[in-house]
Amino acid sequence: MDSRSTAILLLLLALVCLFLTLGSKDKGKLPPGPKPLPLLGNLLQLHSQDLLSLLTKLSKEYGSVYTVHLGPRRVVVLSGYQAVKEALVDQGEEFSGRGEYPAFFNFTKGNGVAFSNGERWKVLRKFSLQILRNFGMGKRSMDEQILQEIRFLLEELRKTEDRASPSIPFMLSRSVCNIVCSVVFGSRFHYDDDRLLNIIQLINDNFQIMSSSWGELYTIFPALLDWLPGPHRRIFQNFGRMKELIACSVREHQASLDPSSPRDFIDCFLTKMAQEKQDPLSHFYMDTLLMTTHNLIFGGTETVGITLRHAFLILMKYPKVQARVQEEIDRVVGHSRLPSLDDRAAMPYTDAVIHEVQRFADIIPMNLPHRVTRDTAFRGFLLPKGTDVITLLNTVHYDPSQFLKPQEFNPEHFLDANQSFKKSPAFMPFSAGRRLCLGEPLARKELFLFFTAILQNFTLQPLAAPEDIDLTPLSSGLGKVPRPFEMRMSMR
Ligand code: HEM
Repeated sequence: MDSRSTAILLLLLALVCLFLTLGSKDKGKLPPGPKPLPLLGNLLQLHSQDLLSLLTKLSKEYGSVYTVHLGPRRVVVLSGYQAVKEALVDQGEEFSGRGEYPAFFNFTKGNGVAFSNGERWKVLRKFSLQILRNFGMGKRSMDEQILQEIRFLLEELRKTEDRASPSIPFMLSRSVCNIVCSVVFGSRFHYDDDRLLNIIQLINDNFQIMSSSWGELYTIFPALLDWLPGPHRRIFQNFGRMKELIACSVREHQASLDPSSPRDFIDCFLTKMAQEKQDPLSHFYMDTLLMTTHNLIFGGTETVGITLRHAFLILMKYPKVQARVQEEIDRVVGHSRLPSLDDRAAMPYTDAVIHEVQRFADIIPMNLPHRVTRDTAFRGFLLPKGTDVITLLNTVHYDPSQFLKPQEFNPEHFLDANQSFKKSPAFMPFSAGRRLCLGEPLARKELFLFFTAILQNFTLQPLAAPEDIDLTPLSSGLGKVPRPFEMRMSMR
């Protein structure tokens, strides 16, 4: 063997050793899972099913902790109440990172409260929570703001005059969007304002695409899909247009800013930016403001709207449940005033129905992806720092060890033997732990007030026979999108 061949051989040997060393170090002691193909990962197993069905099916085969390869990306999947709770709650700090969600990451570049990591996320989350609280997220002033929006909605719904209307879901979206808009922009929009209509259309379109099979494919093969035509391309156009709308509002805020009297989230952020202008390590700059505002509007609009749409479908399918909720509203609230949050404690059945709607509808079934922030020992395995983790919230909400008949819609899941409201630790539509939904208190207020005020004033009537109403979602990628439906709202 000449010296050149020896050198090449040695180099190859060194590379193999390096590869094996790095590979084994990187792998930690990962849980088992289906064998992946190079580059494709476990993609072939997807064939005719969606990602949620595949991951749920694999959890039956491989147990509550397993490894799967989404294309070239290795992800650990957790399922069932016990495993998800142990990770998100008991080992909350280690599992508090945000994992990769290509459609969001390619837009946010890891900026903004929902998709950042490390110190930046901690700072932005603390700041955002503080400002939302100051602007009433947990206060009575917010309750009144929501009720005001509900009065506008009821007025619009009355205009449908008992006729079938396909635009009822859209009416709901406008009202729900207006609530989060009033927190970030300082005021609500008129229902025919182009800015409001644009925001709703852009969010709705993106939620649909990201929940469809195109959205799922983008999650698995972003680099490839960036080269291919398809509806996924609209995701970034829509996000870009939303960003421009927010930037436009920020410019208006800058022109009229009075730091001593902040009007909304944007004013508070701009003031903080000015205070930390000289600090090169500050997390408060223009792009962070745009992305965080975007996260709040996107996170706070379609989620509440979709939950209410699921609730409508469920109540039309189960008219007896609807009648019992209405009976409770009539008894506790009457008809001379709108419901208030103080009524909730006296309305255990209604409270149980809303919780059961959220459990059954399970609108974010795969949660947003998490990431371990350091090498993490979990159930006998070792997940290396940076491993992405999917927590299957659907397997928590449908866990037979936590709910008597998980496949059925049954408000009794949240009622005790005395028909008092009963909490369940496996109720996780807002997730759990350090990344718990930032808008949870606001969303819970909205759901209770919208749900009760609508049922106080209207009876929801399907155009089809109740037994023909299909509660299975249209798609379930990012979110479980309900099937489109037509209905009548008859005045009570
Ligand atoms: C029914 C309504 C809602 C549901 C079901 C919901 C659900 C969720 C879920 C599952 C997450 C991911 C948590 C995790 O990573 O573990 C999340 C995060 C988030 N949500 Fe919500 N959400 C709702 C309403 C809202 C509202 C009204 C807002 C805004 C005011 C909001 C803002 C956010 C933000 C900013 C995050 C990111 C938190 C972080 O990464 O630290 N959400 N939400």
